[in-house]
Amino acid sequence: MTTHLPSLLISIPDGVIDLGWGHPSPRLHPTDALAAAAQSVLGTQSAVPLQYGAVQGFGPLLESLAAWLSSQESYAGAVAPESLFLTAGASAAIDLATTLCSTAGDTVIVEEPTYYLIGQIFIDHGLNVVGVPTDADGLDTGALADLLESAESPRPKLLYTIPTYQNPNGSVLPLERRRHLVQLAQRHGFTIIADEVYQLLHYGTLPPPPMAMLDDSPDGCVVSLGSFSKILSPGLRLGWVHANPCIIRRFVDSGVAASGGGLSHFAATLAHAMLDSGSLQANVDTLRRVYGQRHDDVANLLRAELPDTVQFTPPGGGYFYWLAFRDGIDTDALLTAARESGVSYRPGTAFSASGGFTDALRISISLYETDELAEGIRRLATALRAHGTR
Ligand SMILES: Cc1ncc(COP(=O)(O)O)c(C=O)c1O
Repeated sequence: MTTHLPSLLISIPDGVIDLGWGHPSPRLHPTDALAAAAQSVLGTQSAVPLQYGAVQGFGPLLESLAAWLSSQESYAGAVAPESLFLTAGASAAIDLATTLCSTAGDTVIVEEPTYYLIGQIFIDHGLNVVGVPTDADGLDTGALADLLESAESPRPKLLYTIPTYQNPNGSVLPLERRRHLVQLAQRHGFTIIADEVYQLLHYGTLPPPPMAMLDDSPDGCVVSLGSFSKILSPGLRLGWVHANPCIIRRFVDSGVAASGGGLSHFAATLAHAMLDSGSLQANVDTLRRVYGQRHDDVANLLRAELPDTVQFTPPGGGYFYWLAFRDGIDTDALLTAARESGVSYRPGTAFSASGGFTDALRISISLYETDELAEGIRRLATALRAHGTR
């Protein structure tokens, strides 16, 4: 039987290089290692991987993940198994954190710009979404402090931030701002959801440690999120919450875990086999090497192909380049010429709750190999010329 229903989230018209998608290259999926993991997991202990899992997540993965994260340079400290909870990826974790920490009508603060698919999760929960500005160093905690002190500002229950290799602008929140943010959460009584899915994808200088490492409040005020989507494969739908054990207990006690058991339990058994065999570390090493090279290639291509009026800062990790057009070009309007030239991207307005960033766009280095990225960037340059002569 043939079906016309799609298999994948991604959809790209024929002939178009869509630089907008932040999905991994299919050739970088560790297919053989995952097949070996599935073989070993199902061959030796099928009663475990195919049953309902423990509510906090598959215990052996919690233990080996804690040890592995503790050994990572970008974690800079020990992670205890008691401070982890396994999730069905960061998106599901944000949804569950929002369920546990807010009620409809509450306010959530987000960065301007922020990850363009996140707003809908907060809207699903009936939250009031308020933006705060960012600069080259990420969230402007001074502007946030002013907002929180102002009499008119609604008291937020949640703040959503992407502190490391921000999506879309690639910024990294410095240590001092991270500390300031934790102090503000403690003083004003809100929970920080720190979406740190790119924390382990660094290509040079290390980022500061995850926000949960800096949370010294007795009951915790930070929910740090990691994801196997960015270090293994997104189809596994597996990630983790890293937080004070008081916060972890709230996730463990959630209705969804009580009824369905640990989230993405089968995927967790595969990730455990990958971790214990060393395949996960080998995969992360490969991703850093391949994406790191692409990242340098893209910086050179952008410099060579685009006019000086297009400004960008090569990010130190993650997937995204944020291009700012200093000559007043509207990137929503440019999209028509871009598609005619066979290229696409995410316009800046997609990342703003208030319709800002009309002069910016995001491209990703993750999906295409360097030769296709080069062709896409050349097509973008052609589109710019065509747009300019209209
Ligand atoms: C900042 C950010 N958060 C979350 C996600 C989705 O993560 P997951 O696949 O773990 O749900 C992405 C994917 O692009 C992302 O960029």
